[in-house]
Amino acid sequence: MASFLTLLFPLLAIITVGPKTVAKAAPDVTYISALCGPKTDPNPPELSDRVFQVTALAINFTSPDGFGSCSAVDTEPVVYGFGWCPNVVSQQDCTTCLQFAQNWVLNTLCKDVYGGQITLAGCFLRYETYKFCDA
Ligand SMILES: *[C@@H]1O[C@H](CO)[C@@H](O)[C@H](O)[C@H]1NC(C)=O
Repeated sequence: MASFLTLLFPLLAIITVGPKTVAKAAPDVTYISALCGPKTDPNPPELSDRVFQVTALAINFTSPDGFGSCSAVDTEPVVYGFGWCPNVVSQQDCTTCLQFAQNWVLNTLCKDVYGGQITLAGCFLRYETYKFCDA
């Protein structure tokens, strides 16, 4: 019994250290594709705020379960957001991937456009000023 425990302890130590190493691994944010809606002119500032808010909501409510999550900011002008993490397993990686996607699509790829979607290897994020998902 004593020798079994001596064998078991180093093993448990390895198992405990294992997941921490995995959790530190970054999600796969390799760019796959993006689509932007038509440029809206003039750009109402409250719409940018809503687009940011709705994508933040989508990020907060999306879990890596294989299903996406639809969110809405439902005061006019209405904006819908949808997050999906089909290829990641941890909540942390899902959130990190979607935050990366949000930053990229809102600030660079589809800047000042109020409809956009981006597909990365680990996640998908879309937002529109019309109802494209059930919130
Ligand atoms: C998302 O979650 C963070 C952390 O809990 C929180 O600070 C933030 O207000 C949330 N954002 C939205 C839009 O709910």
